[in-house]
Amino acid sequence: MSWLVSFFLLIFRYMENSFEKIVSFAKRRGFIFQSSDIYGGLGGFYDFGPLGVELKKNIKDAWWETMVQNREDIVGLDSSIIMNPKIWKASGHTENFTDPLAECTGCHKRFRADHLEDKDKCPECGCKMMEPRNFNLMFRTFIGPVEDSASVAYLRPETAQGIFVNYKNILDTQRVKVPFGIAQIGKAFRNEITPGNFIFRMREFEQMEMEYFVKPGTEKKFFEEWVNERMRWYTEDLGIKKENLRVRRHEKDELAHYAKDCVDIEYKFPIGWSEIEGIASRGDFDLTQHQKNSGQDLNYYEEATKKKYIPYVIEPSCGVERTLLAVLCDAYMEIEGGRSTTTEAVKETEFLLKLNKRVSPIKVAVLPLVKNKENIVNKAREVYEMLKPYFNCQYDEVGAIGRRYRRHDEIGTPFAITIDFDTLEKGDVTLRDRDTMEQKRIKIEDLISILKKEIYEN
Ligand code: GAP
Repeated sequence: MSWLVSFFLLIFRYMENSFEKIVSFAKRRGFIFQSSDIYGGLGGFYDFGPLGVELKKNIKDAWWETMVQNREDIVGLDSSIIMNPKIWKASGHTENFTDPLAECTGCHKRFRADHLEDKDKCPECGCKMMEPRNFNLMFRTFIGPVEDSASVAYLRPETAQGIFVNYKNILDTQRVKVPFGIAQIGKAFRNEITPGNFIFRMREFEQMEMEYFVKPGTEKKFFEEWVNERMRWYTEDLGIKKENLRVRRHEKDELAHYAKDCVDIEYKFPIGWSEIEGIASRGDFDLTQHQKNSGQDLNYYEEATKKKYIPYVIEPSCGVERTLLAVLCDAYMEIEGGRSTTTEAVKETEFLLKLNKRVSPIKVAVLPLVKNKENIVNKAREVYEMLKPYFNCQYDEVGAIGRRYRRHDEIGTPFAITIDFDTLEKGDVTLRDRDTMEQKRIKIEDLISILKKEIYEN
C-alpha cells in the first residue's frame, strides 16, 4: 500500500511544482503580482502587471466580440457594483450565499468545512473542530457617513443581479424580442473563507456573464446550445486544447439555490480539473423574485400570441482570471536544451508561451539587428511607429538578437521583425514566427496587411 501512497505523493508534488512554475513565471515576466506586495501582500487579492493587463483585456475583448458584437440578439450593460441592498434580499444572497465555516477549538484557525478531509479534526493542529456555521460571503460596507443598519450595503458577489434589475429598462428602451440576452463584464467580490491556488480563488475578481431570456418550454434547447457555444469559444477563439477541457453536470444536491440545471466547464489545471465557467438554467427565479419584491411588472408581452409571461433564463458565467489562468497553463512550455539552431543560441532551457495570437499581450516585437548603427536604429523606429497604431508592438534593442527572440517567445509575442543592413537597401525585413521559428523576408509596405491576416484571420 505504501508504494501507492508514495506514487500519489510524487504525482501530487509534480502537479504542485508545475503550478508553482506558472506562478513564478507570471510574476517574473510582469503578468501578475501579489496585491500590496511591498506591505507583505493581502490574501486573495492580486494585481495585473503590464503584460497581464493586456492579456486580460484581450480575453475580455474576445468574449465581448463573440457575445455582443457578433450577435444581433444580445446587448451589453455596465451596472454599478453597489446596488440597493433589497436586491440581495430578493435574489436570496442575503440568506443563502454562504459557505460552511468551521473553527478549530485549539488554534482557532478557520476553514471551509466542505473542503476538510476530516470534518472533526483540525488539519493544522489536530484539535477538535467546532460545529460549522453558515458564513455569508458578501462584503459589507456603509453608504454615507453613518454606520448603522439602515446604511448597510454590499459589494456585488456576482454581476448577474445588475442585469436582472435592468431587464425592464432594456425591454423599454431597446428593440429586443425573446429570445435575447444581456451581457456584462465587471468586478465581483466574495469574502472567501480560504482564497488560494493563486488567482483561482480570489476575494476580488472579474466575471463575464450573460443572461439569455427565453420562452418557458424552450430552455432545454437553449441550454444545450449555450454549452456547445461556450466550449467552442474556449477551443476556437482562445485556442485552449480540447483535451484539457470537459463539461461536468451538477448533481442535484450541488445546485445553487436559483438553479434548475447547471454544468461546469472545467479545465485540467495542474491542481486538477476545476471550474472556469458555470452554465445555469435559472428558470424564472430571479425575475419572479424581483417582480415580487420591487412591485414592478416584469412580464414580457409576446406580440404574436398576445400573451404575457416571465421569461426563463440561461446563464453562461465565467471568471476572467480563471480563464486567464487556463490560457496561461495551456500555453506555457519549457523546452530543455532549447529549440534554437541559430549560432548565438545557448543550449539552455527555453521558455515558450504558445498563446493564441489574438490574445497575446504584445503582437509584434520590432528589433534592430544592432543598436550601434544609427541608420538601422532609425529604420527600426520608423517601422515601429508605422505598426504601433495597428498592433500592440514593442521596440527592443537590448542584447543579442537570439536572446531578444527568446525573450519574446517567453512572453508569447507571435511575431518578431528584424531590421538589418539589407532592409536599408531593399526595403524588406525579416518576419519571424514564434511557433515555427520560420523567417521570411517581407516588404515593409506589406507588413500591416500580412500581420493583420496572420493575427486576426488565421
Ligand atoms: N452568476 C452566477 C455565478 O456567479 P459562480 O459559479 O458562483 O456563478 C461564476 O461564478 C464564475 O466566476 C466561476 O465559474 C468562476 O470562473 C468565477 N469565480 C467565482 N468565484 C470566484 C473566485 N472566488 N475567484 C475567482 N473567480 C471566481
